[in-house]
Amino acid sequence: MEGLKQKITALKKEKNAVILAHYYQEPEIQEVADFVGDSLGLSQEAEKTDADIILFAGVHFMAETAKLLNPLKKVILPDLNAGCSLADSCLPGAFKTFTAAHPDHIVITYVNCSAEIKAMSDLVCTSSNAEKIVNSVPEYVPIIFAPDKNLGNYINSKTGRKMVLWDGSCVVHEAFSMDKLIALYKQHPDAAIIAHPESEAHILKTAGYIGSTAGMINYVKQSTKQKFIVATEAGILFKMQQEVPDKILIPAPSVEDNTCACSECAYMKLNTLQKVYDCLVKESPEITVSEEVAKKALIPIKRMLELSK
Ligand code: 13P
Ligand code: SF4
Repeated sequence: MEGLKQKITALKKEKNAVILAHYYQEPEIQEVADFVGDSLGLSQEAEKTDADIILFAGVHFMAETAKLLNPLKKVILPDLNAGCSLADSCLPGAFKTFTAAHPDHIVITYVNCSAEIKAMSDLVCTSSNAEKIVNSVPEYVPIIFAPDKNLGNYINSKTGRKMVLWDGSCVVHEAFSMDKLIALYKQHPDAAIIAHPESEAHILKTAGYIGSTAGMINYVKQSTKQKFIVATEAGILFKMQQEVPDKILIPAPSVEDNTCACSECAYMKLNTLQKVYDCLVKESPEITVSEEVAKKALIPIKRMLELSK
């Protein structure tokens, strides 16, 4: 493993490549990354990089967003099958019909969707800026929000809007078990529950803090609490624990999980250190987006980045 890490570091230098990794990636991938962050942080980093090659250690929509921001750069993803249940739930044909049924609505899409869907959107948001992006739209203007109904419901509750929601969800965040969470909390009544807004409303109701992966890490850092039950993908625990070595972090239990008592995103975990190395050597698989789609999809992404400054 150490040898492979050294080879990756040498190759990055030789090829002027940068590795951008999401918090849900395996620890050894995070260790060779130049930047580890949430979806917004990763897009901001992609926007300002001067590397020739971006290796994106995350899922397809994240790498695609980096490509949209860097049309002239080579963007590579270790495993092209690293998708996302939210992105998969929202296909262009059906989404076109959906938006056509609400012609007077502004379309805001969560970044967890394909470039084709972004190309049909007025604004894009991530979990860390969704409320701000929604609030940037005048109150009298109706909104369609897609593809995450859980994030959409949460933002509706925070803003008092009545956004029309697409019926999509994250397989990982929908798998948290309320019964197991209650049982766990009974064992640790001194813990604070923190949750990602892709979780269902009943889970969010139990949380003392709700935010993006980066937001959750920051919260744990500044909180006076010593113990946290963490309702998001378990990969976050690696970086979180590095930031708060003396605090106790307990992954929230999911319904299916009898083995490791935590939730993992099978798509994120398709990337391995070996695939990162192979991908850097071959400079493939490469992310491509048609010029026509890219031109349209970049507009709402740029709007989001501007509103997030
Ligand atoms: P963040 O933007 O909070 O990192 O979330 C991305 C994601 O896919 C969560 O499942
Ligand atoms: Fe998509 Fe859920 Fe995996 Fe995030 S955790 S990439 S939303 S499937």
